[in-house]
Amino acid sequence: MGKLVILAVLAAIAGIATWFALPFIFPEAPPQLDPNEWWGPNDLKGKVDDSIKPFQVKFSDEMIKDLKTRLQNKRQLVPPLEGVGFEYGFNTKQIDAWVKYWSEEYKFAEREKFFNKFPQYKTNIQGLDIHFIRVKPQVKPSVTVIPLLLMHGWPGSVREFYEAIPLLTKQASGYDFAFEVVVPSLPGYGFSDAAVRPGLGPAQIAVVFKNLMNRLGHKKFYIQGGDWGAIIGSNMATLFQNEVLGFHSNMLFVQNGCAHFRNLIGAFFPSLIVESHLADRMYPLSKFFAYLMEEFGYLHIQATKPDTVGVALSDSPSGLLSYILEKFSTWTRFENRALADGGLSSRFSKDQLLDNLMVYWTTNSITTSMRLYAENWSNKNRALGIDRLYSSVPTWALQAKNELAYQPPNILKLKFYNLQGVTVLDEGGHFIAFEMPQVFADDVFKAVRIFRDWHKQKTEW
Ligand SMILES: *[C@@H]1O[C@H](CO)[C@@H](O)[C@H](O)[C@H]1NC(C)=O
Repeated sequence: MGKLVILAVLAAIAGIATWFALPFIFPEAPPQLDPNEWWGPNDLKGKVDDSIKPFQVKFSDEMIKDLKTRLQNKRQLVPPLEGVGFEYGFNTKQIDAWVKYWSEEYKFAEREKFFNKFPQYKTNIQGLDIHFIRVKPQVKPSVTVIPLLLMHGWPGSVREFYEAIPLLTKQASGYDFAFEVVVPSLPGYGFSDAAVRPGLGPAQIAVVFKNLMNRLGHKKFYIQGGDWGAIIGSNMATLFQNEVLGFHSNMLFVQNGCAHFRNLIGAFFPSLIVESHLADRMYPLSKFFAYLMEEFGYLHIQATKPDTVGVALSDSPSGLLSYILEKFSTWTRFENRALADGGLSSRFSKDQLLDNLMVYWTTNSITTSMRLYAENWSNKNRALGIDRLYSSVPTWALQAKNELAYQPPNILKLKFYNLQGVTVLDEGGHFIAFEMPQVFADDVFKAVRIFRDWHKQKTEW
């Protein structure tokens, strides 16, 4: 009897081990997505050119006048409960000061000029005019220029990278390369067109962005992303393993069965999964689930009824402000929830935050930006199973203290088995490029040097 039990246990262990090992031995090939899938109006098919047209951000007088009228005609807000900060959402006591600043002190002409400090373009890809910043470094011929795609997320925009772009496009000391950066607005975000029919999820955006890089003459390139940019990046690093030379992400997560399983094991035996000084970033699980319930209602709404909430947000600038800035508060530092002003001014200037809002407001893109959650939740997207598939692309994770979640290397490697390393920060939050541009840029340089060394070694082999 005793022997039978041992045999059964051994068989079970062998079974589980095989189940884990099989995909490594017989990796599933990534799905082939249609590289020409059309997302624009059907009557434009065959009628758009593929030229690259210069673009400038324009804050029209008409838009500014309308915005100011709306801000000034805002209704009296319901006061917050006594003694609360941001626990019930954006503290309404703060709104008046923000609205006043936006309508009276925000310098529209100056900010417009700021937006146009980098060369920007639009080009039509698969029926959509895609907006992007492109900055080529001004460096000596001896300095290698490396193409790097930078991808933002929600509720961010290309504005998140404005402080980091000058740092990436010059030669950093100790490096023999600098980056040519390409920074697109995601489809449906800011100055890029939105799809006119369902289905443009992260995998399909990965196709659009690969086409964008190819059109700019980059057959092979490096990518970087946080938030949706991280998810799109993960898709690119899975679908285009020969084109993507390296993937740097400040929100690298792996969400597949094995990852969840390890996460669960760690709840009982944390030392098997995570270094002790980082265990409190993952456990207790009850704390993490409470956090999900308290903070992720927006995700469920946006994944199910983006158009309904979009009506309110696209009609009211103060509504849009509270909806978006609440995320900049809590996602930068969770403890900001307890503060009356949401701690917003401690890491960002008012102009920085309002610039980002302007990207959504002037383009009326909040609704289409939120639809990405719905596309991601579709059965079609889930069926692609991107998180189940492996990526051989050299990868690096920059892990800020206050990122929405944390995963240790042994979990990240369940997908990104070529993870070259991680940088664990004791500070910083979700919008790390925006909040700590120097730390961000330094880490990108560091990772890309390691990626390049890896490629060199591979060819020497
Ligand atoms: C997007 O979809 C993937 C795959 O179903 C899932 O793992 C991930 O949590 C989703 N992300 C968001 C933000 O909805």
